[in-house]
Amino acid sequence: MPTLLEAQGACAGYGEIEVLGGVDVSIAAGSITAVIGSNGAGKSTLMRSLAGLLPLRRGSIRFDGVDVTARRAHQRVSDGIALVPEGRLVFPDFTVAETLRMGAFTPRSRKGWQPRVEKMYELFPRLRERRSTQAGLLSGGEQQMLALARGLMSLPRVLLLDEPSLGLAPAMADEVFTALRAIRDQGMTIGVVEQNVYAALSIADTAYVMEDGHVVRHGPAAALIGDPSIRQAYLGL
Ligand SMILES: Nc1ncnc2c1ncn2[C@@H]1O[C@H](COP(=O)(O)OP(=O)(O)OP(=O)(O)O)[C@@H](O)[C@H]1O
Ligand SMILES: [Mg+2]
Repeated sequence: MPTLLEAQGACAGYGEIEVLGGVDVSIAAGSITAVIGSNGAGKSTLMRSLAGLLPLRRGSIRFDGVDVTARRAHQRVSDGIALVPEGRLVFPDFTVAETLRMGAFTPRSRKGWQPRVEKMYELFPRLRERRSTQAGLLSGGEQQMLALARGLMSLPRVLLLDEPSLGLAPAMADEVFTALRAIRDQGMTIGVVEQNVYAALSIADTAYVMEDGHVVRHGPAAALIGDPSIRQAYLGL
């Protein structure tokens, strides 16, 4: 599949600290690309850079063949790059239904928001059950599903997720991973950062391993999951 979103030689950081030291990552259309690596490796920083929340110091970000390096975060959302950041961040006082409606805020996504809400309820039946409940009263897993569905409401062409299974009970995490696979099977392009390396490699097509602001390995997820050094370093096997 052709590349939809890519970073080339991406360097970014905070103040004096350079976190990304020239990262090359490419996310193929219609695939799940996982980014794994230890704490502080720069995974979230990479996601923020792809979404335009953090400017690059050097290098470039290309989306569908167009250089979007200079485009700001809100412009990239309109372009079709959606980031679901770590920690879910749903507004506690809004109901599930209101939150979904708010997700359709870009010019491109406003039209047809109602049938899209229905699609979200098909994808996440729990959200339908809880559509009149305030987001703040949902369980952690339900909030993650809501954050994911809200991201999809903006009609992204690529969905970036930072640690979607963080803090979730295993059964809930499984539901989230199953949903990601279903979304991919419907044609969505997904980039996902995950602590749960085994689950991430199990659902991903391609994976990148980051250490200390650099990509140290990448390849088909199935190859990495079987690789002895990956198994030892990240899977504790
Ligand atoms: N806003 C910030 N200001 C200063 N330094 C930051 C900021 N955010 C992250 N860092 C630093 O940048 C480095 C990479 O952080 P980042 O959050 O990208 O790592 P990560 O791979 O996502 O880690 P984790 O697995 O813990 O989420 C870390 O050393 C972190 O302390
Ligand atoms: Mg992180």
